[in-house]
Amino acid sequence: MANTTPTTNSLENYFLPFTANKDFKKDPRLLDRGEGVYYWNHKGDTVIDASSGLFCVPLGHGRKEIADAVHQQLLKLDYSPSFQVSHLPAFACAEKVAKLLPGDLNNVFFTICGSTAIDSAIKIVQAYQHAIGQAHRMKFVSRERAYHGVNIGGTSLSGMIKNREIFTAAMPGVIHLRHTWLEENKFTKGQPEHGAHLADDLQRFVDMYGPESIAACFVEPIAGSTGTLIPPKGYLEKLRETCDKYGIVLIFDEVITGFGRTGKSFGSVKYNVQPDMITMAKAITNGSQPMGAVGVSDKIYNAIVGNGPEHGVEFFHGYTYSGHPACVAASLATLDIYEKEDIFARAEKMSHYFLDAVFDAFKDVPAVTDVRGDGMMAAIDLAVDKTPGVRGYDAQKKTFANGVHIKFTGDSGIIAPALIAEEKHIDEMLQKIKEVVVKY
Ligand SMILES: Cc1ncc(COP(=O)(O)O)c(C=O)c1O
Repeated sequence: MANTTPTTNSLENYFLPFTANKDFKKDPRLLDRGEGVYYWNHKGDTVIDASSGLFCVPLGHGRKEIADAVHQQLLKLDYSPSFQVSHLPAFACAEKVAKLLPGDLNNVFFTICGSTAIDSAIKIVQAYQHAIGQAHRMKFVSRERAYHGVNIGGTSLSGMIKNREIFTAAMPGVIHLRHTWLEENKFTKGQPEHGAHLADDLQRFVDMYGPESIAACFVEPIAGSTGTLIPPKGYLEKLRETCDKYGIVLIFDEVITGFGRTGKSFGSVKYNVQPDMITMAKAITNGSQPMGAVGVSDKIYNAIVGNGPEHGVEFFHGYTYSGHPACVAASLATLDIYEKEDIFARAEKMSHYFLDAVFDAFKDVPAVTDVRGDGMMAAIDLAVDKTPGVRGYDAQKKTFANGVHIKFTGDSGIIAPALIAEEKHIDEMLQKIKEVVVKY
């Protein structure tokens, strides 16, 4: 392949996100190319991708069908206004996404990424509660160790201290359920037995603040970025019950768990609990274009749109790039491959091998204090080395140097291979991670 990488004499100008900028610029980890489950770095070494980028590339890198679809779309119609004017592929994409969504989530609002999906969902909730005469419901429930992106709404919902502590312009009225990590569930494969009672926190909030105070409850079915916290048996069901009882909108943030990661189309299908809305992004385009969406129930859509004015805008929210032609083209091509290659069923089948392999690889490593996982997603916790996060950061660098990319958050390493990965790829990534962590 021709080398088309632009040259630069300086790493100065790029202010990197969620990165130790100073340290990175001393010894940068740069990727140059990707194909299948492999990356190649700027020195030409292979780096096997154990986290599907940032959990967004289930079909592997360099899918020609997606690249061609984007190319053709940009030549035909590069941009269409998204307000009061639209284009047919956006409708086709919404129809395809809606077919995958569970229950009556038949209405799809396009955004630019996961963070904008979350902030859009917050505003859809507000519009809905207003439309049904419940605008006095001002509180939003989230959870400790939650990650819902980085816009102001998502930052406010966040349950990760570093992501919120200095950002004081947050949305008021957010209260947090306890997280679901429990000592007694350590080294559990699949859904843990203990912890359904943690969902009682929602009932306690109702008792504390009043039955008509809470607008919505946001949870990730599997808390992903914080280190793959699998929902305890009965936990999501209990949240659903309490939401039903008190008119609270239940939103599943499926930015990571959507599109096959759990072995089903969505986490809500896997765990058989129906939310009122689902936020999604990442795998909606196989990571190839920035795009997110909110799946909205008929009840909520009809309350907002049905009750709106006859000839006026019903929902004053949207983005210049909502349903962008190139993103929609990438998504249509991606969804097509999911269907043709039966990717979700493939993920379900491979998940047994994957989980067994992860547990076998790490269960006896002294520095690994917990292993968890479900579907094609797992995490290892490393024993804290004096200060939380120090060892995880060290492992992030050392694993990359050892030829594997794995996303660490604090001291948790999150393993989420592409859903097209074969057994030999899973073995290779785990081996390369293990070579690093056995030395701690
Ligand atoms: C559950 C969840 N919600 C929201 C987001 C934010 O998505 P984005 O980075 O596309 O804004 C993420 C990103 O990892 C996520 O995992």
